[in-house]
Amino acid sequence: MPGVFITFEGPEGAGKSTQTKLLQAALERAGYAVELTREPGGTPLGDVVRGALLNPDLEIAALPEFLLFSASRAQLTKDVIVPAIAGNRVVICDRFFDSSLAYQGYGRGLNLEFLREVTWEATGGLRPHVTILLDLEPKLGLQRAARVGAPDRLEQADLAFHQKVRAGFLELAQFEPERFLVVDATQDPQVIHEHILSAVTGSLSAMAT
Ligand code: TYD
Repeated sequence: MPGVFITFEGPEGAGKSTQTKLLQAALERAGYAVELTREPGGTPLGDVVRGALLNPDLEIAALPEFLLFSASRAQLTKDVIVPAIAGNRVVICDRFFDSSLAYQGYGRGLNLEFLREVTWEATGGLRPHVTILLDLEPKLGLQRAARVGAPDRLEQADLAFHQKVRAGFLELAQFEPERFLVVDATQDPQVIHEHILSAVTGSLSAMAT
């Protein structure tokens, strides 16, 4: 079985961390070696950068915001994702470059072509085999996220920003329907999990043959 790279994307409060853990457990039960990681973070540098990016007391303009996410991504790709794929593991990453396109591109208004060029350099052109987009209305997602804790710097951005982010994710999914699986994140978590698991299992068997 060659290494496989699966990413989860979506607006705030979509339930990505629950779903990544459920998928990890199910694939491990099925005998796969799984590496679960997340962005921003996943490396010592990434965790430092994450602290800055999410700090609500820090003002960060759109360009440095994107460059910081990219710095975390470059380190994570080199140190964690590429070695795990080379070791024939199934890598599950909670957010990857589609988040930069949606948040910093569609949300903040940075040029998408520029973002793609820097991302190419940061990742060595690595692309996920499968991307699961957990989609939901941002108002509902922000309410869900607010139940978990105080809003971080990104969550504090206004609703219009989060609506652009959601629309951006949906447009990205439309451009690449063969890579994206779009799932309605308002459904019951177990129903969502089974839907994702059957799609991922199908992709894994297709890749193994
Ligand atoms: P996190 O607490 O991981 O949020 P979530 O549970 O929603 O993933 O915080 C990550 C935040 O950073 C989230 O608001 C999305 C944002 N983000 C970007 O704006 N650009 C990016 O490239 C990435 C990876 C995340």
